[in-house]
Amino acid sequence: MAGKFISFEGPDGAGKTSVLQALLPQLQQHSQADVVLTREPGGARISEKIRDLILDPQNTEMDARTEALLYAASRRQHLVEKILPALAKGAVVVCDRFVDSSVAYQGAGRQIGEADVLAMNQFATAGVEPAVTVYLDVPAAVGLARIQAHRQATQYDRLDREQLDFHERVRAAYLRLAQAAPQRIITIDATQSLAQVVTECLTVLQKTLGPDWRD
Ligand SMILES: Nc1ncnc2c1ncn2[C@@H]1O[C@H](COP(=O)(O)OP(=O)(O)OP(=O)(O)O)[C@@H](O)[C@H]1O
Ligand SMILES: [Mg+2]
Repeated sequence: MAGKFISFEGPDGAGKTSVLQALLPQLQQHSQADVVLTREPGGARISEKIRDLILDPQNTEMDARTEALLYAASRRQHLVEKILPALAKGAVVVCDRFVDSSVAYQGAGRQIGEADVLAMNQFATAGVEPAVTVYLDVPAAVGLARIQAHRQATQYDRLDREQLDFHERVRAAYLRLAQAAPQRIITIDATQSLAQVVTECLTVLQKTLGPDWRD
């Protein structure tokens, strides 16, 4: 792999998408190599079809393991069609969510087992892993409140206990992943202001790019 593969992770509302939007122009400015920002399913036709299947609100009977398998299948196609070719050309590829999301959401959130979900995803990725993962850490309630605050007043509903428990399990799994892989996963306190979070992420990216970062 000639390029650099970087993922951004965190619970719902942690700020992944906002931070990446703010980061992108700066990263493009400072990176010697091309920068490819992507998110799963990320522009691969088959991946998008799979994603539609997962997110279709009519698919209420979707089994948790079926869902996990579909996410992994979608990820595989996105990896092969988009991420690996960009890396082969030497690009910096930044992906909004990757395998850690499945471990946290399917493994811990839906409680089908973190180790099994990881093993299944290692089959899907054939072991391809981000060089660095920026983990934006927020308590579940903070992330969910941010999302709710930006919804229409009519859509506002109280966070129910079940929803909060699910997202707390997700966050706890992320913290376990970060503790288990401190070399790869850099944790950033995402309860700070967006500007502060962006600044800390830039420092991480500068370090990651090393000599490929130009001032
Ligand atoms: N550091 C911050 N402080 C306060 N609000 C923030 C911060 N970062 C993001 N937000 C706001 O929180 C909401 C969720 O942010 P965003 O969509 O970037 O999160 P996300 O991690 O991509 O969530 P999801 O996992 O649902 O895609 C947005 O309305 C955004 O403006
Ligand atoms: Mg997002």
